[in-house]
Amino acid sequence: MTEHSISNSEIKDLVSQGLEAASAAATSAALQDVRVAYLGKSGRLAAHPYFQTIKDANPEQKKIIGADRTAATTALNAAIDARKAELEVAELNARLASEFTDVTLPATPALRGSIHPITQVTEELIAIFADFGFSVAEGPEIEDDFHNFSALNIPESHPARQMHDTFYLKGDGKEPFPVLRTHTSPVQVRTMVSQKPPIRIIAPGTTYRSDSDMTHTPMFHQIEGLVIEKNVHMGHLKGLLHDALAAFFGLEKLPMRFRASFFPFTEPSAEVDIGCKRGKDALVIGEGSDWLEVAGCGMVHPNVLKNCGLDPTEWQGFAFGCGIERLAMLKYNIPDLRTMFAGDVRWLKHYGFNALDIPSLIKGVAA
Ligand code: PHE
Repeated sequence: MTEHSISNSEIKDLVSQGLEAASAAATSAALQDVRVAYLGKSGRLAAHPYFQTIKDANPEQKKIIGADRTAATTALNAAIDARKAELEVAELNARLASEFTDVTLPATPALRGSIHPITQVTEELIAIFADFGFSVAEGPEIEDDFHNFSALNIPESHPARQMHDTFYLKGDGKEPFPVLRTHTSPVQVRTMVSQKPPIRIIAPGTTYRSDSDMTHTPMFHQIEGLVIEKNVHMGHLKGLLHDALAAFFGLEKLPMRFRASFFPFTEPSAEVDIGCKRGKDALVIGEGSDWLEVAGCGMVHPNVLKNCGLDPTEWQGFAFGCGIERLAMLKYNIPDLRTMFAGDVRWLKHYGFNALDIPSLIKGVAA
């Protein structure tokens, strides 16, 4: 379509005033007023006497007046739309500038929550074991009988089931009932069933037992470790636990001993004690002649390997498990286990950790 130049000088003037008004509009609202004033139903264009003459004009003139009307409308619309786009960009930029948040600013203490010692210690242990090449594995807190017990060589009627003070759930009403997992060991089973060895995992998580006194809460936390390889032995286990626990307590050397013990899923089994001194007011880890139990461990029982589809003549491994509360209490001098879950913000203020400090071996996990 060839461009029609407006034949009526008054309309030409009107259009150029409209164009000026459009480019002078400083806000979207002002621009909308210009649109209504010029292009509205009774706006300056529609109301102009020149366009009223169309009724009585001859066909030839009608064509010209109509074309003038179209040209004027098109020119004004184009200018207003272009200005609208400009203003929208400017208004967005102004908004972005005024609503700018500097995410690099330090958080104000009033807005900052604190990290619970359980979370802190879990993160510390993950950082330590990650350095030994362990990855984190997780599993459900509601477990079935197979993963929590039978795959771990704890058959029905085995006395170890009583030891676990299990919370049973109704499930579909038929035995064996689902349970709240009594330890993190079912994650071992899940990992062996689903991954090809070699395996090197830790499984931190929440566990449950129907037990409540000074040193037990029905809900608590464990961290489990599992290594499956062709040639690992008790010596590797002892070396690993020594180095990991020493790193955790920030010590070069930590007196540590294995005490023969029993777990259905490991053979041989041991309980791990670390050296300490029970002073009058405080407990000192790493010196003295007293011992404190901190973990259970052992070589994975061949039956467990078999139950998880591994050939015990080809693969062997070790596993360990410890209570996270216990480690947190020892390292951070928290005297009472039950206060951990009392939900008291004053307690958390005292024992909690800076939410922005992520434990790492470089920065240190023994702060
Ligand atoms: N699952 C054991 C418990 O809850 C701890 C453990 C884990 C012992 C792995 C040995 C090996 O008591």
